[in-house]
Amino acid sequence: MDDTIQAVLDHYHARIAQEQAQRAAHPTGPASASPTATTTLTAPDRDERLLAVGPETGRLINIIARAFDKPNILEIGTSYGYSGIWLAHAARESGGRLTTLELQDYKAAYAREQSEKAGLADYVDFQVGDALALIDALPHGIDFVLLDLWKDLYTPCLDAFYPKLNPGAIIVADNINRPGGPGIEAYLKALRTKKGISSLLLPVGTGIEVSRYDP
Ligand SMILES: C[S@@+](CC[C@H](N)C(=O)[O-])C[C@H]1O[C@@H](n2cnc3c(N)ncnc32)[C@H](O)[C@@H]1O
Repeated sequence: MDDTIQAVLDHYHARIAQEQAQRAAHPTGPASASPTATTTLTAPDRDERLLAVGPETGRLINIIARAFDKPNILEIGTSYGYSGIWLAHAARESGGRLTTLELQDYKAAYAREQSEKAGLADYVDFQVGDALALIDALPHGIDFVLLDLWKDLYTPCLDAFYPKLNPGAIIVADNINRPGGPGIEAYLKALRTKKGISSLLLPVGTGIEVSRYDP
C-alpha cells in the first residue's frame, strides 16, 4: 500500500479501535450494542458504526481479488467504505473494477470521499439503493463478491448474484461466527444447494465463509 492509501486505512483503523473501546466499556449499553448481532442492533446504533470487516479480512480480500485478471468485484454492503478501500486497491492492481452497493446515501457519500482521498475513486462504481434490485440490474458477470450486509439478506443476495457468477468466481461472506439470528445458518445451507460451489469457513476476523464457483 502506498502512503496515501495507508493514511486512509489508518484513519479507519483509529475509528475501528474507538468503536471497540466503546463496546468494551459499555458491553450492555445501547451505544455499545454487541457487534455480535448486527441484526439486533437498533437502526441508529448500527447505522452510526462502521461495522467494518477489520484489517485481517481486509488484507485477505485484497489478496484474493488481486489474483484475478481484470475482475468485476462486487461488494454488497459499502457502509462507510473501509473494505472498499482494500477492494478498490485490488481493482486498480488487477486492471479490474469495484461495484459497491449501499442502502444509505450518506454512508456511500462518505465512502466515496475516502476513496477519493486514497486516490482510488476512479476504480469504484458507488451504487445507492436496495442490494437485491441493484444486483438484478448488474449488466456484467462477477468474479469476486464480498457479502457483508444484514445477515437476513445473505441468502436472498446469494440467489440474486449466483446466476451472474463467472467460472472460478470467489465469494467471501463476513461475520459467519457472530451470533444474531438465523441468517447465517440459512446462508450456509443455501450454499450447499448451489451447483458448483465448494466452500469453507476460515477463522479470519469474525469468521469468513470463502466459496468458489465452478460450473
Ligand atoms: C456490515 S456493514 C458493511 C461493512 C463494510 N463492508 C466494511 O467492512 O467497511 C453492512 C452495510 O449494509 C448496508 N445494507 C443493509 N441492508 C442493505 C440493503 N438492502 N441494500 C444495500 N445495503 C444494505 C447497511 O446500511 C450497512 O452499511
